[in-house]
Amino acid sequence: MTDMKLTILPGDGVGTEVTAEAMRVLTVVSKIYGMTIETSEALIGGAAIREANSPLPEATIEAFKGADAVLLGAVGDPAFDDLLPEHRPEIGLLRMRQHLGGFANLRPARAFDSLIDSSPLRREIFEGTDLLIVRELLGGLYFGEPRGFDDATSSAFNTMRYSVKEVERVARVAFESARGRKKKVTSVDKANVLETSRLWRRTVSEVAADYPDVELDHLFVDACAMHLVTNPTRFDVILTENLFGDILSDEAAVLTGSLGMLASATIGGKVDLYEPVHGSAPDIAGKGIANPIGAIASAAMLLRHTGKNEEAATRIETAIDRALAEGYRTADIAGSSSKIVSTSEMGEIILGYSAESDTAKQSATGK
Ligand code: IPM
Ligand code: MN
Repeated sequence: MTDMKLTILPGDGVGTEVTAEAMRVLTVVSKIYGMTIETSEALIGGAAIREANSPLPEATIEAFKGADAVLLGAVGDPAFDDLLPEHRPEIGLLRMRQHLGGFANLRPARAFDSLIDSSPLRREIFEGTDLLIVRELLGGLYFGEPRGFDDATSSAFNTMRYSVKEVERVARVAFESARGRKKKVTSVDKANVLETSRLWRRTVSEVAADYPDVELDHLFVDACAMHLVTNPTRFDVILTENLFGDILSDEAAVLTGSLGMLASATIGGKVDLYEPVHGSAPDIAGKGIANPIGAIASAAMLLRHTGKNEEAATRIETAIDRALAEGYRTADIAGSSSKIVSTSEMGEIILGYSAESDTAKQSATGK
């Protein structure tokens, strides 16, 4: 019996390198728990434009339609930089998100004790940071109509639009998530300027009435950007719209030491989507130095949310913690460490710790 059907989309740049490591770890850990995962692989983004002349080929849509989840590497290729948005690699990802239907993008960011020297921030500022960004993923400026160029007036335009329903459903995910954490939601908007934000704030406050056990506060996005680097431990769950969430999650990533560390899960639709937060990083692609931890941690989220196997997810996350605690570092988080490893070595190390029996693990960590 198959427990899970998974479509793997390595995509562009370092996407292929980090996805390979995530799959190695996932394969071993799912076996430990007797889960069978049936996989298929398909093209997306620049790789798909090159081979199939479309950023999201029909064959890819067919592949993920029948799946329970998609594991994506990264999308983006500077060779197509001059193309209009509707032809670029990124549109493949955006269209796929629409197909899959997941509207809540969960992006956890926590400060790893062992990476304290890799963050550009001072220890006393970010130590203890453990937050979750819940980013609305199917609305706002990314998808609002009308959009386009107006040659007659030499201008271009996009539309920010949100319905009460869209805000409600993502707000519920944020409040539910907060219940399993520190029970605090910070809703982020620009309600001093934007109508969409007025609607956002009103709707989130209404949803909050159903969660009296969860504390809610509101912040303007500019203030939030500042608090993230001056007082990040004030946050538990940050709930925000699509573009604000895109920007704030890159900012939150520096707290953890590197953008390469962050994982994400997109839930709420027909097919769940897992992807590291980082992009295709063309400047380091093909060199074997990319950090696979964001991708491997995304595989852990896959086991947790789609696989409903908390223990398997924690096993991987513990292995990541341990690799870092032992001092292994990819170049992006190297600091002054002498144990600099390649993408595949980091994968191998995390795989090794993930595969160890529980007794071996306990004696090694002295617990
Ligand atoms: C992300 C990325 C994407 C986004 C791009 C590649 C379309 O930056 O997942 O954060 O903006 O959503
Ligand atoms: Mn982004």
